[in-house]
Amino acid sequence: MATPTAPSASGHPNPLGDELRAGRTAKPCVLVIFGATGDLTKRKLVPSLMGLAKDGLLPPGFAVVGFARRPWTDQGFRTELASGVKQFGRSETTACFEALADAFTFHQADFADPAGYESLKQKLDQLDKARGTGGNRIFYLATPPSSYSSILQNLAATGLSKEQPGRFARVIVEKPFGRDIETARALNDQVRAAFKERQVFRIDHYLGKETVQNILALRFANGIFEPLWNEKFIDHVQITVAESIGVGSRGGYFEESGIIRDMIQNHLMQVLTLVAMEPPASLTADAVRDEKVKVLKAIRSFRPEEVDSATVRAQYTRGSFGGENVNGYRDEEGVPKDSVTETYAALRLQVDNWRWARTPFYLRSGKRLPRRVTEVAIQFKQPPLSLFEGGKPMQPNVLLLRIQPDEGVALRFGAKVPGPDVRIRDVRMDFRYGTAFAGETADAYERLLLDSILGDGTLFARGDEVEEAWRIVDSIVAGWKQSPRRPEEYVAGTWGPDRALELLGDGRSWRKP
Ligand SMILES: NC(=O)c1ccc[n+]([C@@H]2O[C@H](COP(=O)([O-])OP(=O)(O)OC[C@H]3O[C@@H](n4cnc5c(N)ncnc54)[C@H](OP(=O)(O)O)[C@@H]3O)[C@@H](O)[C@H]2O)c1
Repeated sequence: MATPTAPSASGHPNPLGDELRAGRTAKPCVLVIFGATGDLTKRKLVPSLMGLAKDGLLPPGFAVVGFARRPWTDQGFRTELASGVKQFGRSETTACFEALADAFTFHQADFADPAGYESLKQKLDQLDKARGTGGNRIFYLATPPSSYSSILQNLAATGLSKEQPGRFARVIVEKPFGRDIETARALNDQVRAAFKERQVFRIDHYLGKETVQNILALRFANGIFEPLWNEKFIDHVQITVAESIGVGSRGGYFEESGIIRDMIQNHLMQVLTLVAMEPPASLTADAVRDEKVKVLKAIRSFRPEEVDSATVRAQYTRGSFGGENVNGYRDEEGVPKDSVTETYAALRLQVDNWRWARTPFYLRSGKRLPRRVTEVAIQFKQPPLSLFEGGKPMQPNVLLLRIQPDEGVALRFGAKVPGPDVRIRDVRMDFRYGTAFAGETADAYERLLLDSILGDGTLFARGDEVEEAWRIVDSIVAGWKQSPRRPEEYVAGTWGPDRALELLGDGRSWRKP
């Protein structure tokens, strides 16, 4: 494998961390994947590693050890991974896997069995000799959260989590990171009993998306937006993460989390912090994360009696989707008929600082909405006086950050319709990633895996950040529990319940992307 160059050499725009990365090379290391026979490993992790290999970004001697219970051989493991790369990898990565298959070995053990970690340690020592990985290890917890505790304890007990001079040990923790502030704190305590914070990489794959990183580039690499980026000029911000799918066979899992835990606590809160944060002193991990935490700290917890007026929760009912009839949430497999778990939530959040004092942030996320789309809409205030069309109010200007699909940025503004009359119509300036930059966009996991190998934590959530996001979400969940209101309903395939409009007030409306 080639020595990595700066990621921009792959043709991907790379707004964050270039400074940090310049002059740094990824050191040879072993990635140990706990849960290596699972879905995430096959669908995301190994195809993403092969994307990095294709772009020459993996360090020489890089190796992967898969840890799980099934009695697989090295060869069986490789065959399974090869089919995952073929099915889910970027183009031309199948050949990369064939060339690198020897780098993948399987380690059969139970997470709870200390002997499995002693034998892992021996295996890693052998790999250091055979592949020159120099004692550098990354442990990826691609397992159900219930397994984290025994893995962390065993890594600490065997000394595998310890950093040695010139050797790194890191841990990557998957979402969900807790299910409320108590469990997140307890998990942070467990993680920190084995690893120091700088060794910990908490995944929120939204942060690995180019378009999410581009929020910082748009704001801080340009002079024209930042002077307007405050409550004097911005009327409000809408952040939407919509899914067209229902809960499918994951009804049992979803019933325990709801959309607020599954999407809002992590992805929407992360996007919110990037939109609302102050310019960081530098692009180092802590400088960026310090500013993100300040945003969350400026959002106060809701009192239970405030929750019904600042939030809306709802469940989808039977409807028609693409010409097919689809189940309502309470008819889905694994969902009780009297469920009150929300499949849609909309919130009005106030960031109580000087920049945002009078600008509300509206967040919404739901399943079975008409389209799969993630976007941030920055809606500007009207001009102080309307001179056109008899003083009729104009459509507000909107800066639209399209996170996915159709990635790009658009600005909506009024223009004169050609002709003798003075009539104004909305037009758009549009930047599209697909048109402006050639080449396939890397999957978010590629970027995050590379950054963990480089030791750059900028795009990972810090412990305090996760806890602050839970604090806000917990106060909403507590209000819902106490409220006599049941969740609203919306027909599958529509943009959510009518009551969501009441959240906006002042003649505002939700965008229909
Ligand atoms: N799948 C995704 O797309 C996705 C996306 C985002 C986040 N995540 C998160 O990623 C994590 C893993 O998800 P997944 O879908 O890959 O789960 P999964 O398919 O259920 O895989 C679980 C893995 O853990 C192993 N395992 C469980 N208990 C074990 C034990 N006692 N000893 C040894 N191995 C054990 C299983 O191995 P054996 O079966 O061989 O025992 C299997 O390899 C979860 O936290 C999930 O929330 C997943």
